[in-house]
Amino acid sequence: MITEAQIESTIRSLFENIEFTAEPAGLYDPLRYMIGIGGKRIRPRLCLLAYSLFKEELSAEVFEPAVALEVFHTFTLIHDDIMDKSPKRRGQATVWTKWGDDTAILSGDVMSIDSYRRIAKAPRAVLGDVLDLFNKTAAEVCEGQQYDMDFEDVEQVPMAEYMKMIGLKTAVLIACSAKMGAIIGGASAKDADLLYEYGYQLGLAFQVADDLLDAFGDEKVFGKPIGGDIVHNKKCWLTTHAQELLAGDEARLQDLHSAMAMPVETPEERAAKVAAVKEIYVSLGVDQDAKAEIRRLTSLALDAASSLGLSKVRFEMLRRYADSLVGRTK
Ligand code: IPE
Ligand code: IPE
Ligand code: MG
Ligand code: MG
Ligand code: MG
Repeated sequence: MITEAQIESTIRSLFENIEFTAEPAGLYDPLRYMIGIGGKRIRPRLCLLAYSLFKEELSAEVFEPAVALEVFHTFTLIHDDIMDKSPKRRGQATVWTKWGDDTAILSGDVMSIDSYRRIAKAPRAVLGDVLDLFNKTAAEVCEGQQYDMDFEDVEQVPMAEYMKMIGLKTAVLIACSAKMGAIIGGASAKDADLLYEYGYQLGLAFQVADDLLDAFGDEKVFGKPIGGDIVHNKKCWLTTHAQELLAGDEARLQDLHSAMAMPVETPEERAAKVAAVKEIYVSLGVDQDAKAEIRRLTSLALDAASSLGLSKVRFEMLRRYADSLVGRTK
């Protein structure tokens, strides 16, 4: 049986030894930089974990596809940081602030291509299924990112629309990571779909946790500036739920919308806006509700996992993985 310790050491060595083309340095340095500063590597870890449920030993056949998931994810972050005007990522300067938008766009493009090159190394027998899954997922992430941007210009988004948006921008890649590991591990179609569902629900929980940490996290641990979503009027779970709670209470809804319309030209103005919006969130208990929502989504993920009919040891691996994702502070 494959243990979590083996998965951890495999992840470490895969990323310590990852290689990208050397030149031109202007194109490939940002890739080395972003992969080098790390990240939690949750997607390749989940891919190896799902694979482990169906195999007795970790074999190289799953390594390149697992790495591809992280490379693709990192590409989306490079572009996301331009779109969200984020100055910091993983505690370091973002690619666009360090090298400029033009380099960030092109380095992101080549990183996406690099991920396809690695996906193409999946075992022949399952390559068609793996590529179909990855292509569908990659397009869905772009769709989610477009909805995310569209929502910046809308005052209020229904919760169902918000959940659909995060399903696309975040959950599908986590779901794809689980399903890909299962497919390469030789799972039945039914089990691969159950792992997709596990990953999807966990992915939703993960994004709600990200939204919560964006407003209430500790910047030093989270690695991203606190309040970025509030400053840029991103429609996060907290805003959407606050607006839902205030439906019918015109005066307090107006207070929230006034806070959301506060100026953000100077650092002082930004801090004042973040404080004003957070005060409304806390007064409504939206932060506590977010925690309850994260728990609800996690238990839906575990419901799917329990239909897999796994041994207790293997099910516990999925439970511990879920706990590590949603109990996170970074
Ligand atoms: C950040 O993903 C983007 C979201 C989907 C919330 P991660 O939180 O997995 O980022 P890294 O890779 O660990 O930096
Ligand atoms: C990111 O969502 C989703 C993707 C990169 C596809 P966010 O914009 O919330 O992620 P962070 O907070 O910048 O990591
Ligand atoms: Mg974004
Ligand atoms: Mg962002
Ligand atoms: Mg975020």
